[in-house]
Amino acid sequence: MGSIGIVGATGLVGTKMMEIIHQRNVFDGFRISAFASASSAGTTVQLGDREVSVERLQTETIEPGTVLLGATEAEVALRWVPECVEKGAVVVDNSSAYRMDDDVPLVVPEVNAHALVGHKGIVANPNCSTIQLVMVLAPLSDLSPIEWVCVSTYQSVSGSGRQAMEDLFSQEAGEECSEGAPVYHRNVLTEIGTPEDDGYCREETKLIRETAKILRQEFPVFPAAARVPVPVGHTESVTVCFAGPVDPEDAYSVLDETAGVRASSGGLSPSEATGKDEVFVGRIRRHPHHANVVQFWITADNLRKGAALNAVQIAEEILASEAI
Ligand SMILES: NC(=O)c1ccc[n+]([C@@H]2O[C@H](COP(=O)([O-])OP(=O)(O)OC[C@H]3O[C@@H](n4cnc5c(N)ncnc54)[C@H](OP(=O)(O)O)[C@@H]3O)[C@@H](O)[C@H]2O)c1
Repeated sequence: MGSIGIVGATGLVGTKMMEIIHQRNVFDGFRISAFASASSAGTTVQLGDREVSVERLQTETIEPGTVLLGATEAEVALRWVPECVEKGAVVVDNSSAYRMDDDVPLVVPEVNAHALVGHKGIVANPNCSTIQLVMVLAPLSDLSPIEWVCVSTYQSVSGSGRQAMEDLFSQEAGEECSEGAPVYHRNVLTEIGTPEDDGYCREETKLIRETAKILRQEFPVFPAAARVPVPVGHTESVTVCFAGPVDPEDAYSVLDETAGVRASSGGLSPSEATGKDEVFVGRIRRHPHHANVVQFWITADNLRKGAALNAVQIAEEILASEAI
């Protein structure tokens, strides 16, 4: 019997992984285990109607061939991932710990599933904002080469994990929240993650580096990341300069034919994308004075395609290709 383990099963992404595994029903016949920190051991998480006991992850008990879906913070992943790979597991990790490692594929299955070939036991899931961006840039680049991309994000609070969501809801209710929590309610936070020496915060740097790694193209990405008081669903305002003129009708056509993308001429909202698997693109418009410049909005459920769904899809690809 094959074995799948969710590490961080009690968190926002881990819980969503359990939900998606149940909904897609693709790991039928597999043993599904749920792991979290010692403080959650003995609690349960739902797999459909079934309750699965949460165990403390003990890397020495991991069996060869187990596929582990990681939904822990980077510093936690750095501790357990190498030991599990050593034991013969394949890890699809959601954290930022391994994304930029040369020998770790960074994969969005609809865009670069081919990168999985020859993986060495770790496959990284990209940052949520990167996933929805490359899902749209990849098909558009077939219309004309991309020269540069400017992207401003409006990222939901769930992107910061379960505690942040609870803080948002407490702030909305006028109740006390955790010590040191940012003010999410009625606010926009224009810095997500500590700024690096160049002034760009971590979420912005991820957009630059991860987009280049996935698309294997050198065009510059100019990012600005903000946290907005939305529970779930990341939204992005995107401006793309192509090498030649691009007709918005052609953009709609190519996006319409792209698996996992839904294009519409109207406006978008993260609340409508919540709970859905697709990446939504809307209001595609060509600049009136620059025929090579096209602007549009993207929104997607950051916990589904931005995290859990993408990781489950990667696991499906790995198991289908028997690449473990
Ligand atoms: N939220 C998003 O939209 C999103 C999108 C893309 C990527 N990610 C990444 O996915 C990861 C998880 O994010 P999240 O939002 O789900 O965070 P979260 O809600 O804070 O959940 C963190 C999970 O990690 C577990 N954990 C903590 N220490 C552990 C340990 N020593 N051993 C095993 N498990 C441990 C927690 O278990 P306990 O409950 O026992 O503490 C919990 O299940 C992060 O790296 C995040 O950057 C998140």
